[in-house]
Amino acid sequence: FTVDWDPEMAEKGGYEHFMLKEIHEQPEALRRFLVGRLNDESVHLEELNLNPEEIKSYSRIFIVACGTAYHSGLVGKYVIEKLVRIPVEVDIASEFRYRQPLIDESTLVIVVSQSGETADTLAALREAQGRGAKVVAITNVVGSTIAREADEVMYLRVGPEIAVASTKAYTAMVMAFYLFALYLGQIRGTLDTEEIQKAIAALKQIPEQVKWIIENTESEIQKLAEQFTKHENAFFIGRSVDYTVSMEGSLKLKEISYIHAEAYAAGELKHGTLALITNGVPVIALVTQESVYEKMLSNVQEVRAREAWVIAVALEGDEEIKKSAENVLYIPQTMELFTSVLAIIPLQLLAYYVARLRGCDVDQPRNLAKSVTVE
Ligand code: G6P
Repeated sequence: FTVDWDPEMAEKGGYEHFMLKEIHEQPEALRRFLVGRLNDESVHLEELNLNPEEIKSYSRIFIVACGTAYHSGLVGKYVIEKLVRIPVEVDIASEFRYRQPLIDESTLVIVVSQSGETADTLAALREAQGRGAKVVAITNVVGSTIAREADEVMYLRVGPEIAVASTKAYTAMVMAFYLFALYLGQIRGTLDTEEIQKAIAALKQIPEQVKWIIENTESEIQKLAEQFTKHENAFFIGRSVDYTVSMEGSLKLKEISYIHAEAYAAGELKHGTLALITNGVPVIALVTQESVYEKMLSNVQEVRAREAWVIAVALEGDEEIKKSAENVLYIPQTMELFTSVLAIIPLQLLAYYVARLRGCDVDQPRNLAKSVTVE
């Protein structure tokens, strides 16, 4: 009797790749992220050491990051502007640092970085501090350069992320923005007790809902992936926060499967991209936003009319979408602002299974690095 024991496999907890392991770790990682940061009544981010007077003084927020972290910042903008009514700009760190941003003492700068070592993000942090702004970092790595240099830090607590393509760090970053927006809204008085309680109840369900999505969509996605592998182009469309999820879904697919993928704000389709939609072209449509549902549905119909292959990510209970999309991947109902953290899960799985079938080096895509510490 012999047992084949592969130390690398053991490190991956029995999964074939770190990416798949990290996708599956998300329910637990997000649970850990929330511990001690909320109770039924309110959000507690005293760890940030921001005094209420200061929080009330912010006139503008900048969110600066690279790659997947930048995409989490785009979600952050929607959530903060909606709940706190402060204008938010989101910048790619390599752009921010060279464009002499308009920053002063009433500006809060939030830098986001899984590794805490990305050169451009670090430079942006220093640039912001040099111009007198306070910098809050959202990062995963305790003691990283960005964590040490930022004025305040909020840790993601998701454990080491090994795969180059970020998954659990992204969902935790998005959760960080949900919490941060609620915290600001609580202190600045833009949210009443009832609204905060309702949002907290929704947030508490998220880890379990992520688990539900993995359990209920993974085998279907594996089947879809077989059909997907032969394509060389794909489009992701969405409106509102679904547009930002489209961008992250598109990045996931292109970076690990090498399929050319583009994300479009669905309303922009007719200004160019529609020319590329022909018979069989895969279009992944994010349809989770009630407020723009009808608009999105007509965009889906537009691409269907050009015989695109539409895979929709929609809310449980949406039967209407089945008439326009060939495949529908359902996510559970939550508050409209909080769908991003759920909608990305099927897209992570799709990217993973397509890349795997194409024989790509899923955890170490060509030419890419986990942490980019040079310019
Ligand atoms: C690299 C990684 C990406 C990551 C980006 C920012 O490009 O491959 O997955 O999103 O850097 O990294 P950070 O550690 O700053 O979040």
